[in-house]
Amino acid sequence: MGYPHPIHPKETAVLSTHFGNEATRDYTGAVDRGTYTALKKALAMTPEAVIEEVKASGLRGRGGAGFPTGLKWSFMPKGDGKPHYLVCNADESEPGTFKDREIMRWTPHDLIEGCAIAAYAIGAETCYIYIRGEFTEPLAIMERAVTDAYANGVLGAAVLGSSTRIDIVIHRGAGAYICGEETAMMNSIEGKRGNPRIKPPFPAQAGLFGLPTTINNVETLAAVPHILNRGAAWYKGLCLGNPKSTGTKLFSVCGHVMKPGNYEITMGFPMKDLIYDLAGGMRPGRTLKAVIPGGSSVPIMDREEAEAALCDYEGIVEQGSMLGSAGFIVMDDSADMVYEIYRLAKFYAHESCAQCTQCREGTAWTTKILERILTGTGRQEDYGLLADLADNMTGKTICVLSDSCAAPVVSGIQKFRDEFEAYLGGAKVLAHV
Ligand SMILES: Cc1cc2nc3c(=O)[nH]c(=O)nc-3n(C[C@H](O)[C@H](O)[C@H](O)COP(=O)(O)O)c2cc1C
Repeated sequence: MGYPHPIHPKETAVLSTHFGNEATRDYTGAVDRGTYTALKKALAMTPEAVIEEVKASGLRGRGGAGFPTGLKWSFMPKGDGKPHYLVCNADESEPGTFKDREIMRWTPHDLIEGCAIAAYAIGAETCYIYIRGEFTEPLAIMERAVTDAYANGVLGAAVLGSSTRIDIVIHRGAGAYICGEETAMMNSIEGKRGNPRIKPPFPAQAGLFGLPTTINNVETLAAVPHILNRGAAWYKGLCLGNPKSTGTKLFSVCGHVMKPGNYEITMGFPMKDLIYDLAGGMRPGRTLKAVIPGGSSVPIMDREEAEAALCDYEGIVEQGSMLGSAGFIVMDDSADMVYEIYRLAKFYAHESCAQCTQCREGTAWTTKILERILTGTGRQEDYGLLADLADNMTGKTICVLSDSCAAPVVSGIQKFRDEFEAYLGGAKVLAHV
């Protein structure tokens, strides 16, 4: 029995190959299994060639938006003579998402290697790794790994004996969901309140401390050494669905499944197989009702959509939702959809930075309306009110936190209206929420 589950024959373990293996976690163990060979290779290439290789692999950001990674790196100015920064987004506060944590716990040196390669490619001498405040164990492991990397000449003034300097600074967050948003994260690193910034200027023009900055997710950066070691063509070849979605991806599956956990699959893998085969399907006697596939910030899929979807950026859009962070929240027929949607709205209301009126008011009023529906004082007009609020919360704010709150509400009412009707018609009521 492996940890936390043996690798399933249908998984394609790349990032997760060493999950659970204590022996290969520290510096010596990591080097023995090949970590830092890709960094050596990168240092022998020009930064432009490294960017081209990543572009050719088709790697897209694993933090949620799926933006092409090589293209993002190519936006960084060249020859501007200014300091550049790399920020590794290890905030991972999206509900239902728990993959970056495992990368840091089991393969910290692979993440350091990915950060160092990215820093070299974009001309950054400093990389900040912003770790979620609650991640005490990953923090301790990463701190130890960074210390060991310095002690062994991987980081510092002469990376692997070259003339390249790369420093890594670990910055611990303080438990705010909004600080996972890249511009709020930069404010937080600067010691300011974690409020998102208006774009433009984009981080590649004026980011951390007003200087050119690239922000990438942990999983994105951890994939980079594999691309350099095995080649862009190999990575691009890992594709079962749309050719725009390449490589492997860690899917965190939680909720009403028999075997919750992280599963690494090739892009385009059928969602049905992920849920029923890898994650063990529903609990006995239960049937699938809904899946929120992108963490909680995307439209809810009903059973039919989930069973038809392919797990990649395009496949999930085709079935009415988005891949997002690929944190699957699976719900069976015992789930009360009105209550689940209320819980999500309450989360977003609590986590709104309150900077934009549409978000501050919209998330709070959405929560209150759902609360009154649940407790028996809802009205038929509440559908219209929720739709109006959702409309105001979509595409009108500095960041997409309020869009993320609106998505499950709108899709939930659309797909599970009978459950709302049960509350509004008086057939169901909760004493309190
Ligand atoms: C409210 C909010 C929270 C976010 N939280 C995270 C997070 O915890 N981790 C993450 O990698 N990206 C998060 N993102 C996305 C980041 O802003 C950014 O797009 C990402 O880190 C870019 O990296 P990538 O291109 O490698 O995906 C969040 C976005 C928003 C709007």
